[in-house]
Amino acid sequence: MRPGPGPIMIGPAGRHMCRPGPYDLRHHPTAMAHKRRLLTAAVGGVIGAAAWWRTHPSPCPYAQRFWVEAPHPLITRERLLEILAPDPGEQLLEIGPGTGYYSLPVAEKLNGGRLFIADVQQQMLDHTMRRATEAGVANIEPARADAQALPYANGTFDGAFTVTTLGEVPDPDQALRELARVLRPSGRLVVGELFGDPHMVTFGSLRARAERTGFGIDRRLGGPLGYFALLRPVR
Ligand SMILES: C[S@@+](CC[C@H](N)C(=O)[O-])C[C@H]1O[C@@H](n2cnc3c(N)ncnc32)[C@H](O)[C@@H]1O
Repeated sequence: MRPGPGPIMIGPAGRHMCRPGPYDLRHHPTAMAHKRRLLTAAVGGVIGAAAWWRTHPSPCPYAQRFWVEAPHPLITRERLLEILAPDPGEQLLEIGPGTGYYSLPVAEKLNGGRLFIADVQQQMLDHTMRRATEAGVANIEPARADAQALPYANGTFDGAFTVTTLGEVPDPDQALRELARVLRPSGRLVVGELFGDPHMVTFGSLRARAERTGFGIDRRLGGPLGYFALLRPVR
């Protein structure tokens, strides 16, 4: 992060100065009050924007994909592979792949199996499929779909995962019910969340949602700043 400009000091000749002079704005009562008002407005704006994001779930726009292409600290690919433990031959589902940050490494572990990816944005699916083609990964099946109404039959998948996506869905409980429906009884679901994401689902909120949608939480990897949780259907 670049440091911001220091205090502006204007000397008698109107030139910027390095040290306080007789007209140093830092000590002028009107300038101080103005500064305080600006600061209050800025802080209020940031809090307001964060509150708006949290109460208005919406998909991360494709135009802002740099957020999902950046490294994901704490919720690394290695940690996802550890908790999801994809096995050769399995059929897995990913909800909200974005540009495929996790899709490719998971698909590569499924030798003989397939990874189905479902996203509401066609551009995200196209991006992931382009990357898969470039990397020679041929076992990913895309579908444009809403997590709240999945286009798959009951009991289709051995496992599913969804990372920094649940909070973007208008009704996360409905998405979890749909995931429970398309999983085999022995299936597993991994949910990943990261602090700083305006739509983060905290672990406490996930546990409450899991309890009312037919899942139990088996394991958690990580802490409040970023975690993967392993859920299993409770039948
Ligand atoms: C923040 S991105 C996360 C991408 C990826 N999982 C990652 O962590 O890099 C969220 C993704 O979920 C998708 N998404 C949002 N709401 C959705 C919904 N209701 N159904 C399916 N996908 C959704 C978005 O289009 C976007 O691709």
